[in-house]
Amino acid sequence: MIEDMLRTPAAVQDAERHTAHNYHPLPVVISSAEGAWVTDVDGRRYLDCLAGYSALNFGHRHPTLIAAAHAQLDKLTLTSRAFIHDQFADFCRELAALCGKDLVLPMNTGAEAVETGIKVARKWGYQVKGVPGGQANIVVAEGNFHGRTTTIVSFSTDEDARADFGPYTPGFRVVPYGDLAALAEAIDEHTVAVLLEPIQGEQGVVVPPEGYLPGVRRLCTERDVLFIADEIQSGLGRTGTTFACEQEGVVPDMYLLGKALGGGIVPVSAVAADTDVLGVLRPGQHGSTFGGNPLACAVATEVVRLLATGEFQRRSADLGERLHAGLRGLIGKGLVAVRGRGLWVGLDLDPSLMSGREACERLMERGVLAKDTHGSTIRLAPPLVITEEEIDHAVAQVAAVLAG
Ligand SMILES: Cc1ncc(COP(=O)(O)O)c(C=O)c1O
Repeated sequence: MIEDMLRTPAAVQDAERHTAHNYHPLPVVISSAEGAWVTDVDGRRYLDCLAGYSALNFGHRHPTLIAAAHAQLDKLTLTSRAFIHDQFADFCRELAALCGKDLVLPMNTGAEAVETGIKVARKWGYQVKGVPGGQANIVVAEGNFHGRTTTIVSFSTDEDARADFGPYTPGFRVVPYGDLAALAEAIDEHTVAVLLEPIQGEQGVVVPPEGYLPGVRRLCTERDVLFIADEIQSGLGRTGTTFACEQEGVVPDMYLLGKALGGGIVPVSAVAADTDVLGVLRPGQHGSTFGGNPLACAVATEVVRLLATGEFQRRSADLGERLHAGLRGLIGKGLVAVRGRGLWVGLDLDPSLMSGREACERLMERGVLAKDTHGSTIRLAPPLVITEEEIDHAVAQVAAVLAG
């Protein structure tokens, strides 16, 4: 195609003109997608190896999910929780069963699920544990990413995310991720929860040392503290099991879910916990106009059913091995480390070669979309519908970029 006939450059400029610059997207303008592939306004195809930060675990426009959305659009889209609708019960029952918990509380974005978890833990602390009013604390990890609200950025250790957004919400203690001794030290009689990602996604797909999550579970049980697992990015099949915690045989007191729960169609998040925890909320104490709406429930129920088959978890485990093996072969050839679980990988580039951003731009030119983080790290999280051939293709493109 003749360069000056491309629509992309003008479309990129257009997209920037009337928006706050709170993102620095790759210069690709996507207009359609199917499965693991997206197509831009100039008809060029790209293998999507970010999958909406795991919001697209089932690929773009999974036929079952699209059919559920279409059918629901023709019947009922919103009621608010002032009334009950006919999609609500199935969603809550089936998601609770998938989580092995009594109850769920639906919200919309991941950050809202995290906020919900924090509120529930504090209320549980005052009403069940007996913490004196206003004294509750929650222990979190360095390098965390739980969202963007003022409370959540209050305990971020990433200055870009946090600086100049104070005054900050008190009541959080930050300890090094993976350090059980530091966690034990930080917990006191006013601690109501430990809030952790079982694998830190935004930090670069950082997997904690073996035994850490069971250790956190043990400490929380011994000290009467809730273990809240933020599985918003790591959960729902991404790591080869339904939840990343499962891989270490750990069951938290509360799951925070989001992203893939909405099937890449609508924002759906949820908190799942047993009655002794989520049961502390009474009418009027928490809610959301859109949380648990009929369209969201119709799509998310099908997401839960797809996961209940186990097929996507198996694909992630099996294909993940192929992806990891292929990328490990590039250590010493431009990569210094490869880590992760299932179809979720953090790649550390040799920083003398190029930045993560530069590598993602070159990958884009080769038809693969990925996202950098923290300087010289790239994250790959392709849809779980990706095939073996497509994985080999992605690895070959990474190798070609590294080879210059
Ligand atoms: C672990 C984790 N928690 C929470 C969030 C926030 O989700 P949302 O962007 O939907 O608010 C994210 C988003 O990347 C995440 O990765």
